[in-house]
Amino acid sequence: MTKFPYNETVLEHFKRPHNVGELEDPDGKAIEGSPACGDMVSVTIKVEPDTNVIDDIKFQSYGCASNIATGSISTDRAKGKTLDDAKKVTWKQAADELGGLPAIKAHCSVLAVEGLRAAIRDYEERHGLVTEREPTTRKTIEKRLKHVMNPLMGLDIVRTDLVKDFSLEDGAVKVVVDLDESHQFAQAIKDDIAEKIEPLWDVKLVEVEFAG
Ligand code: FES
Repeated sequence: MTKFPYNETVLEHFKRPHNVGELEDPDGKAIEGSPACGDMVSVTIKVEPDTNVIDDIKFQSYGCASNIATGSISTDRAKGKTLDDAKKVTWKQAADELGGLPAIKAHCSVLAVEGLRAAIRDYEERHGLVTEREPTTRKTIEKRLKHVMNPLMGLDIVRTDLVKDFSLEDGAVKVVVDLDESHQFAQAIKDDIAEKIEPLWDVKLVEVEFAG
């Protein structure tokens, strides 16, 4: 018989995860997808602006038990901490605190913690807290596009070849998407692209063109 891969702590967090859901009017939010398995996690945070303390945090997982358990424990650790301290929560710590996860499931923990970090980053960008202001390059844009989900496939729009082309000129970003404008997911993809790219400090305009 195959040995069951999860210990009691993991199962407890999986069955009764903490901080599950989505905050209304969050101050920071992110959806991250795993290239390894195609699963997704979303994280929303409320931040006290005077102290930069995370007042509240919720996550939603479309991933497996390891992902849900890591989401539960890492959001527990982040709650009540400053943004800087919450950034120090690592997937390894979370996995250790859960009493260990199967090695094959490391990417699930990484995904949960990346969701937390991306929500913090989103807050920082929107509130002018990013200090290392590197100029946006094509590489930056491509990286951001890899965080825009293709709801048809559950993977990002770059890996699923939905991005036909993109350009960056004088702070104006144009993305050409290989879908018809009337496609049921066109608007959602357009909004997601704008949401991921607009916070970049030196981007002034984001344009999405559908050429399906
Ligand atoms: Fe996808 Fe675990 S297998 S999050």
